[in-house]
This record gives sequence, C-alpha cells and structure tokens, in this order.
Amino acid sequence: MKFFVDTADVAAIAELNDLGMVDGVTTNPSLIMKSGRDITEVTKEIAAMIDGPVSAEVVALDLGRDGRRGPQAGADRAQHRHQGAAHRDGLKACRQLSSEGYMVNVTLCFSANQALLAAKAGASFISPFIGRLDDINLDGMQVIADIRQIYDNYDFDTEILAASIRSVNHASEAARIGADIMTAPPDVIRKMAEHPLTDRGLETFLKDWEKTGQKIL
Ligand code: G3P
Repeated sequence: MKFFVDTADVAAIAELNDLGMVDGVTTNPSLIMKSGRDITEVTKEIAAMIDGPVSAEVVALDLGRDGRRGPQAGADRAQHRHQGAAHRDGLKACRQLSSEGYMVNVTLCFSANQALLAAKAGASFISPFIGRLDDINLDGMQVIADIRQIYDNYDFDTEILAASIRSVNHASEAARIGADIMTAPPDVIRKMAEHPLTDRGLETFLKDWEKTGQKIL
C-alpha cells in the first residue's frame, strides 16, 4: 500500500519522508488555508522534497485558464497531479486532461457509481472520502470495498486512494480491503507506530538490561 500524506505542512512531510513513509502528498484548498502558505510556494517546496506525486486541487469549476493553472504552478510534469471533484464538469475535465497525458485524481467521491464514471473518464486515482461518509452515518469502508470489486471486475487501472482518513483503524481497514493508496494526516501515520505494549515492553527490557550491569563493548 502506498502512503500519501494529506497536508500542506512542509515540516511534517519532511519528518515522515525521513522515515520513508511518504510515497506522495495530497493537498486541498482547506489544507492550504490551514497552513497559511501561498499555494504556489508550498507546492513547489513539497515537489522538490519528495519523489512521488503531489496533488493540488483544481480551483475552478471548468477547464478555463484557472482550471489548468494552480497545480501546474508548483510541480514538474512527472509529479504533477490534478485533483478534480467527481461531478459532471470534473469528469469532463478529467477526460480532457487524461487525454493530454496528465494524471488526474478525482476527489470528493462518495459512491461506487462516481468511481465507475471516474475510471471510464481515465482518472489515474479515485479518492473516496471515507471519514465524511462516516460523519453522516454512511459506511465509508463499504464504498471502498464496492469500488475495489468493480475495478477488479473490469480491470480498470485507476488506483483507489482512500481519503478523509481520520483514524488508525481507517488506515488498517482500507489496507485490508485492498485500497491501493491511503492519504492520511501526519498524526494518523505517526499513531500507526504506537502501541502501549510496545512502550511497556521496551521500558522493561531497558530496566532489566540495566540490572544485568553488562556493557556491550
Ligand atoms: O483527503 C481528503 C481530506 O483532506 C479530507 O479530509 O478530514 O477534511 O474529511 P477531511
């Protein structure tokens, strides 16, 4: 499973990149707003830091000048991914940009049918927002499972990018179901390494080692 980090916080990306846990980065206008940074500057910094894809949301409702710009400003062509919403204009833009050789990440996906349309429109990635489905008492994981089955039935190449991940359980469940990628906030990825029994065991090992009085020379 590939790990993308869902943030515009450059320091957090650098920290996780040093651990080898960053295969890509996703941002959106809300994350840019939270960072307080300029979208072009921050996208450039992220693209220079990591090897994988960097997604920046398309910031227009059609493919006019603004619909093509934002993301292109920061990353080179190899890393550059457009993100567009899974509505009709977004799918139209996806078809057009895919035919021009761009990789497109279709976001704000909330149903298997939207994912089916995105795959037919040539999307490289489909991003079901599972946390937001759970927020309204729907089953986000079931949507991932349905998309997995549909894509496998027809051998679609579109990769399933589990998004709006809110917890470590979301992460492991998305992996179990077979999402190709997950994009998670830095804190969720950090927490995946934590377990109280690991901490307790480590403490005991260190104490017992001290009691032996031995030194490794
Ligand atoms: O990956 C999409 C993500 O940024 C949305 O997450 O927590 O705002 O639903 P959330």
